[in-house]
Amino acid sequence: MLRKLITKAVIKRELPANPFDGEMLPLERLRLFQWMQVHRPRVVLEVGAGVGGSTFYLSEALKQYGGKLYTCDPMRKPPQDFLDRFAGTLDFRSLKSVELIDELIAQNIVPDMLFFDGPEIPELALEDLQRLEPVIPHGCLFAMHDWELIGGRNKKIISIKSEQVRPYIEQSSDWEPLEVLSGHQKNVWWTKGRWDSVGLCLYRYQGNAARATVAA
Ligand SMILES: C[S@@+](CC[C@H](N)C(=O)[O-])C[C@H]1O[C@@H](n2cnc3c(N)ncnc32)[C@H](O)[C@@H]1O
Repeated sequence: MLRKLITKAVIKRELPANPFDGEMLPLERLRLFQWMQVHRPRVVLEVGAGVGGSTFYLSEALKQYGGKLYTCDPMRKPPQDFLDRFAGTLDFRSLKSVELIDELIAQNIVPDMLFFDGPEIPELALEDLQRLEPVIPHGCLFAMHDWELIGGRNKKIISIKSEQVRPYIEQSSDWEPLEVLSGHQKNVWWTKGRWDSVGLCLYRYQGNAARATVAA
């Protein structure tokens, strides 16, 4: 009960009020928003908007300091009043990630942060990342939801979307971990419930050293 109250109070104090639906846990929403405020990336590419859970917090942060979010989802879409609220900040496209990535590359639009929360297709996140690696700048951030793998203490972890991209990033010297929320143990004492994340990571790209970035 106490932890439920604290969670509510922290979220109310630290996060902008969100009248829309979404799929991330309170601590995950908080960390995503805080990472945006700390690192202040200027151009974010999101894969998997859904109805806008993560999109809301990315957009709120970017709106505060004048950045831009490119996001996509071929099957779902945030509601129109959501899109209107972030006009000028948010560019939503009803496309598959590979289509949006190719459009951005063709237009020479270079993200300095990637946020992946796409479908349950393990190879897709890895393919998207490897498509982007040649063009993203040194210092580019990479965050992904559902980062935890099946098989630990938390039997509620069922997502397979990071199965290929996670070992790739963990074994690559080009990616430096900044913070990882575990899905198999609590990450902070004050969150309600037994688990407070299904895994959320933040990495920084150390490749493409010749390219400068504002997110570094
Ligand atoms: C877990 S949901 C996203 C939840 C959302 N980020 C949130 O915080 O509420 C995953 C989404 O990926 C979308 N999706 C499926 N295939 C995709 C693709 N090829 N590219 C981008 N998004 C895709 C699905 O339609 C679904 O809405």
